[in-house]
Amino acid sequence: MIHITDMTLAHLDRVYDIEKDSFTIPWSKSMIRKEITDNKHAIYKVALYENEIVGYAGMWHVVNEGQITNIAVGEGFRRMGIGARLMESLIAEAQEKEMIGLTLEVRVGNIAAQKLYFKYGFKAEGLRKRYYADTGEDAVIMWRYF
Ligand SMILES: CC(C)(COP(=O)(O)OP(=O)(O)OC[C@H]1O[C@@H](n2cnc3c(N)ncnc32)[C@H](O)[C@@H]1OP(=O)(O)O)[C@@H](O)C(=O)NCCC(=O)NCCS
Repeated sequence: MIHITDMTLAHLDRVYDIEKDSFTIPWSKSMIRKEITDNKHAIYKVALYENEIVGYAGMWHVVNEGQITNIAVGEGFRRMGIGARLMESLIAEAQEKEMIGLTLEVRVGNIAAQKLYFKYGFKAEGLRKRYYADTGEDAVIMWRYF
C-alpha cells in the first residue's frame, strides 16, 4: 500500500537518488535539504511503499498559488499510480490552504508527465522558449485553477 507523508531530512538521501535518476538537470542534495530546513513556502511530500521511499513531490506556496517544483517516482515504481497519489496530495493541501490553483513547467517532450497533469485538470497556458539549459527545449506552462 502507498502511504503519502511530509518529507523530512530522514528522507533526503533516497529522495536525492530518485531526483538524480529522474532528471537530466537534477537539483543538488543541498538544494533539496534547504527546501525542507529553510524555505517556509515549501511543501514537500514523499510516497512510501512498504517503508521504502518511491517518489516525492513538492511545491512553493507563493501568495495564493502553488508552484509545483518537482514530482518524480523511482524508475522501478512508475505506472503504479504513485505519481497520481502524490499529485492528489498536493491538490488536497493546496485546496486546504485555499490557494487559487497550481502551476508548473514541463518539457514539451515529456508526454508521460503532461498526461498525468491533464488527468488532474491542468491546461497548457503558454510556453517558455528554450527554458531547459541542457537541450534548449521549451517548457509548457500549465495551470489548474480550483
Ligand atoms: C511523470 C511521473 C512522475 C509519473 O509518475 P507515475 O507514478 O508513473 O504515474 P502514475 O502511474 O500515477 O500515472 C498517472 C497518470 O499519468 C499518466 N502517465 C504516467 N506515465 C505515463 C507514461 N509513461 N505514458 C503515458 N501516460 C503516463 C497517465 O495518464 C496515468 O494515468 P493512467 O494510469 O490512468 O493512464 C514519472 O513518469 C516520473 O517520475 N518521470 C520522471 C520525472 C519527471 O519527468 N517528472 C515530471 C517533471 S515536470
